[in-house]
Amino acid sequence: IEGLLAKGPLAGIKALVTSGPTFEPIDPVRFIGNRSSGKQGHAIATALARLGADVTLITGPVRLADPSGVRTIHVETAREMLGAALGNLPADVAVCAAAVADWTVSNASKEKRKKYPGAPPPAIELAANPDILATLSEAGSARPRLVIGFAAETEKVLEHAKAKLARKGCDWIVANDVSPATGTFGGDFNSVHLISASGTEDWPRIAKADVAERLAWRIADFLKPGGA
Ligand code: CTP
Ligand code: CA
Repeated sequence: IEGLLAKGPLAGIKALVTSGPTFEPIDPVRFIGNRSSGKQGHAIATALARLGADVTLITGPVRLADPSGVRTIHVETAREMLGAALGNLPADVAVCAAAVADWTVSNASKEKRKKYPGAPPPAIELAANPDILATLSEAGSARPRLVIGFAAETEKVLEHAKAKLARKGCDWIVANDVSPATGTFGGDFNSVHLISASGTEDWPRIAKADVAERLAWRIADFLKPGGA
């Protein structure tokens, strides 16, 4: 009976959500990171769980509590996040909300880098990180039925986001304007556009929790038997 009462529109659905930044080590005490708070990704995990989904949240370092009712896996680097994502397939839906570092430090040192009087600053060499969203989108028979990415842009938001939808092979892109004036990074509000092959929807500027709830309902609508 408890199981029946707990059922929501996403009961029986397995969801994977990535959230937060990744940290790429320079040495044991330093890293390259970014300003992602994880608020939007965590809110999506929470909203999906509220609708009854079985949610695995894979998060980089954030100052947020693990959402209740969500299996939360903590990682640091993009590579670890990819490993956790692939290790938690199959899933019906994947939402990649993490601000994954595009580059890792290829000459990270095992020991703390020291400065010596008169010596020049060390050069940091970068190498491309794996793309988690693209990898999930191309996962063949393991591909989630619905793969959703975010596009964080500071200019030409729709144009860049549509290019990303095509390039990554995902089904939907949630495009958001993260230019500093919007206060999106770290803030509680988000103004987004939902882009799919069938067109673009402009959502009003609403709280990140409301973006999450609206997206969760859209996901439920898509995944319901006969939904498209
Ligand atoms: N993403 C990912 N793995 C990466 C980079 C990005 O999974 N290594 C995902 C993000 O979680 C997001 C989407 O791809 O859902 C778009 O991320 P974004 O940084 O906006 O796009 P990039 O392709 O990295 O392009 P750029 O940073 O140059 O705009
Ligand atoms: Ca990027």
